[in-house]
Amino acid sequence: MDVKNIFVIGGGGLMGSGIVQCCIEYGFNTTANDIKEEFVQRGVNGITQRMEGKVAKGKITEDKKNEILGNLRTSTDLADAKDADIVIEVIFEDLGLKKDVFSRLDEICPQHTIFASNSSSLPITEMAGFTKRPDRFMGMHFLQPVPVMPLVNGIMGLLTSDETCAVIEKLAKDIGKEVVHWKDGPGHGLQLSPMAYYNEAAKVLSEERGTREDIDKCFKVGLGMPMGPITTLDFMGMDTVLHILHILHEAYGGSQYHPSNLIVQMVKAGLYGNKAGRGFYTYK
Ligand SMILES: NC(=O)c1ccc[n+]([C@@H]2O[C@H](COP(=O)([O-])OP(=O)(O)OC[C@H]3O[C@@H](n4cnc5c(N)ncnc54)[C@H](O)[C@@H]3O)[C@@H](O)[C@H]2O)c1
Repeated sequence: MDVKNIFVIGGGGLMGSGIVQCCIEYGFNTTANDIKEEFVQRGVNGITQRMEGKVAKGKITEDKKNEILGNLRTSTDLADAKDADIVIEVIFEDLGLKKDVFSRLDEICPQHTIFASNSSSLPITEMAGFTKRPDRFMGMHFLQPVPVMPLVNGIMGLLTSDETCAVIEKLAKDIGKEVVHWKDGPGHGLQLSPMAYYNEAAKVLSEERGTREDIDKCFKVGLGMPMGPITTLDFMGMDTVLHILHILHEAYGGSQYHPSNLIVQMVKAGLYGNKAGRGFYTYK
């Protein structure tokens, strides 16, 4: 299939706006859809600022920036997905919301349209079952920050066709990413161990066994990771983290995914991380 038009639902969010940016930078006509115009604009503003930053650093020309931004459309109406070749869903990690969106999309989109979900932990096979096209449904899981992180996890549902897998893999490569493939399950291969250690790091912090800086430092300096777990939690967004932990805990039990009380409290207090200006650390 020749992919021309991409529709990103949740395109104003943290991950969605990064995915939109990658798609337009590599020349795809891409629509950023969100529930409200202000959310769409939040995503567009972030992308525009990042493009202007690249111009200022001499990485791209002003003309190239305008060409890239020219590939971007915006929408607050799901019906605008009617011309999409691929829809990438990047909304909140909530199965009920995803069910609503996918069953509506199934009525709107043409037969050939492939649905991809960026979900971190929800089962692809179950989401595919909300549509009449389970063969054209697949997980396409990006990492945060999307424009920087070079990996995409491809997650095959039980009925995902090889052709769908090939189209999604090609798209990922066309936007500069490497792909690994996983079989479906709650939280695919990449999520299971990191979510346990992020959660355990929050527990260590809540027990005041070390400072946030020292916990981050031991992973960066001691284990050579580019970012420590406390900062990573801030960058993932505490609300999203809590959703993922609940889903993994329900699926696998045990203590490793039982959400740290500190994370629960922070979500209640609105301390979502850098997208909210404050999480474990404070941001501008
Ligand atoms: N945050 C991460 O590090 C990360 C990493 C990989 C995958 N994910 C996954 O990506 C998805 C989104 O996470 P996020 O961190 O970007 O969340 P976010 O809260 O930053 O963004 C979600 C966006 O979806 C929009 N939205 C919600 N319902 C909608 C609807 N019905 N129609 C259109 N837009 C809608 C919201 O307005 C918001 O802009 C989740 O499934 C999450 O598991 C997150």
